[in-house]
Amino acid sequence: MARQDIVWSDEFLVGSTLIDTQHKKLIGLICDTPEKSAPGDASLLSAAINYTTFHFSDEEAFMEKIGYPELETQRKEHRRLMKILRSHVKDYGNGETNFFDFKQFMFRWIRAHIMESDQKIGVFLQSHPEMRCHDK
Ligand SMILES: [Fe+2]
Repeated sequence: MARQDIVWSDEFLVGSTLIDTQHKKLIGLICDTPEKSAPGDASLLSAAINYTTFHFSDEEAFMEKIGYPELETQRKEHRRLMKILRSHVKDYGNGETNFFDFKQFMFRWIRAHIMESDQKIGVFLQSHPEMRCHDK
């Protein structure tokens, strides 16, 4: 598969200050995860994975506050990714994956999730401007 540049693009903006700020940081962390490291040292993956966990929980709390109707679908997608990430960490420990594959996978997943699912949160916020007070 062709290599993708792991960079932020304004087309990822969903129109929520909270979500956009965190997405930008997350993509930065994925980009900063080194591609070469001591074999089996999964700790280098942890900054990106820990921030993903934090972001998903914050994003879910936000969706709950604004009464977002597709919260459950989002929760399921978030859980699915976390399960895959944990198995990547395990595979890395066993020497079955590498940082290049990990970063590419994570970036592609996050990008697709932002474009297909998170964008809808922005659309919802646009039609419910009274909920903007929670967007901080
Ligand atoms: Fe999400």
